[in-house]
Amino acid sequence: MSSKQVVLITGSSTGFGRLFAETLARKGHTVFATMRDPGGRNAKNASEIRALAEKDSLPIHVLELDVTNDASVQRAVDAAVAKAGRIDVAINNAGYYLSGLEEAVTTEQAQRLMDTNFFGPVRVNRAVLPHMRRQRSGVLMHISSGAGRVVLPSGGFYCASKFALEALAEAYSYELASQGIESVIVEPGQYETPVFGNTVKAADEARTDTYGAVNEIPAKLNAALSSSAGNAQDVADAVLRIIETPAGEKQLRYLVSPQGYGIDEINALSKRVQTSALEAFGLAADTKFFKGKAVASV
Ligand SMILES: NC(=O)c1ccc[n+]([C@@H]2O[C@H](COP(=O)([O-])OP(=O)(O)OC[C@H]3O[C@@H](n4cnc5c(N)ncnc54)[C@H](OP(=O)(O)O)[C@@H]3O)[C@@H](O)[C@H]2O)c1
Repeated sequence: MSSKQVVLITGSSTGFGRLFAETLARKGHTVFATMRDPGGRNAKNASEIRALAEKDSLPIHVLELDVTNDASVQRAVDAAVAKAGRIDVAINNAGYYLSGLEEAVTTEQAQRLMDTNFFGPVRVNRAVLPHMRRQRSGVLMHISSGAGRVVLPSGGFYCASKFALEALAEAYSYELASQGIESVIVEPGQYETPVFGNTVKAADEARTDTYGAVNEIPAKLNAALSSSAGNAQDVADAVLRIIETPAGEKQLRYLVSPQGYGIDEINALSKRVQTSALEAFGLAADTKFFKGKAVASV
């Protein structure tokens, strides 16, 4: 594989996704910066990215991709393969935060969150994998969160979506290694992006009348998260380093956070427990990708 890679990123209109697109393209990687509705609600974001690509001669192509829509995902992947001939890396980045006491979250809100944060990557991975299997190489990257390893009151559904994503990504890592395809998880702490402004609030507030002081938790947590947010470029730089790590040498999990809260300890313990569980089930030899890996902070 050439050291210059073809990368498809979801949720590139703002925040991490947009920074990933620019950071990777500046290093010569071909980027498909995908987003919802680039001709409508994201027209300004799409034209800013196209203008930057033109001005600095960057290999960035904007494509429409809504992760909640199978046909949209397939169209974007087909268009990227038609143009570049391959997809080396799929970065599952699109996602949002849902804030509120869990009882106030409606079933519909919970389903919509899972449809983006969890089923979005399910759709993207299923669309890119036939190409990666044909190439016998590729990287599925999953932008999880520290909240994919620790549980925050008033963020329970978001945590559930990221815990689910972590489980899927880890299972993929065991199953795909023998075909030369890596599945990696990036766990950012809190970073300054539009994520806080894009947070959806639990809709059924009447449900929490009896919660007393616990009702203060969402505001308290949101203030703590946004006031301690780091520079999002650090995450983009980490993603670049991961992508440029040679095949077979990547870790399964990367914690990228100025405040670790001991999540690296959870990851290290999880690796030990996973190893012994897989050995106990007689599956260790089939999952050799995992056996050679350690968890890492970058
Ligand atoms: N910032 C943090 O502190 C932090 C920490 C840990 C993890 N993360 C994760 O990082 C990822 C990126 O978030 P961010 O912080 O960069 O916030 P952001 O600026 O709000 O970016 C979220 C992106 O997801 C896109 N998106 C939402 N629903 C979509 C859909 N159905 N189809 C396609 N794209 C969709 C948004 O696009 P639209 O413009 O169309 O809405 C936007 O481009 C998320 O998965 C988030 O959970 C963030």
